[in-house]
Amino acid sequence: MTISIIGSGKVGASVALNCGLRELDPKINLLDIVEGLPQGEAMDINHQLSEKGLDSYIVGSNDYSELKNSDIVVLVAGVGRKPGMTRMDLLKTNASIVRDVSLKISENVNDCILVVVTNPLDPMTYLALKTTKFPPNKVMGMGGMLDLSRFTSFIHDFTKVSRKSISAMVIGEHGENMLPLIRFSSVSGIPLQEFIDKDQSMQIYEKTKQVAAEVIKFKGATVYAPGNAVSTMIESIVKDKKTVIPISVYLDGQYGVRDVCLGAPAIVGKSGVEKIIELPLDDFEKDQFAKGADSVKEAISNLF
Ligand code: 2OP
Repeated sequence: MTISIIGSGKVGASVALNCGLRELDPKINLLDIVEGLPQGEAMDINHQLSEKGLDSYIVGSNDYSELKNSDIVVLVAGVGRKPGMTRMDLLKTNASIVRDVSLKISENVNDCILVVVTNPLDPMTYLALKTTKFPPNKVMGMGGMLDLSRFTSFIHDFTKVSRKSISAMVIGEHGENMLPLIRFSSVSGIPLQEFIDKDQSMQIYEKTKQVAAEVIKFKGATVYAPGNAVSTMIESIVKDKKTVIPISVYLDGQYGVRDVCLGAPAIVGKSGVEKIIELPLDDFEKDQFAKGADSVKEAISNLF
């Protein structure tokens, strides 16, 4: 499968590096409108891959026609979140970029799976879906995977058990109404609540929601974890692993929500979104999920 990444900023380059480290494609296209940037990033990443003896080759380019044989396109173009900003603050600026790039994708590629990364993630996934007119199973957003990596990191901090033993889930908006699911998390199949008390659960829940803002305050951007999260999704597609992961996906009645993209667990494989899994949420979880849906719907209403 041919992978193309549009946007060669820090996150785009991190996606290319992580796909290369996993050897997901012999040739990975890294594109940007800024001349020299994708070429420079490609050189730097290739030097690292070469030393490791890995045979994925990154090709940097400013030419959208490079997209034409892509099976997977990652849309990461846009402006990043600055300290003090919410993801929603990027709505207007990034919508025009995502609209423009989505048109270029549909003009240049016949059939591909599109992975959206630009923030605000759920509205941008919806905008890319509607602009490309790709089928809903071919468009997914990366937000929940990243939230999940933070959630499991905090679960590890509180329980001290091996990170390998931790299994968890984060759904809902990749934003202020994110929903880390303590009730659907476990340590080697044992409910997480056996390891932590209610107060610790609340701390993990809140920290997971807020930690991206903290990273951005300290270092200006989140880079490594997003790049890795995207490559986990791509690996599941390329190898048809059918991993159950949280993705931003078009909901058509699932979770009581219609015509919106929002984070939900899904089986991800070679045909894209193979099945959306509906979890039996309790009242608090349902309420939080609905708040996320309302927030994304409100944002979307400003775009069309
Ligand atoms: C993140 O969660 C900013 O959405 C980005 O790292």
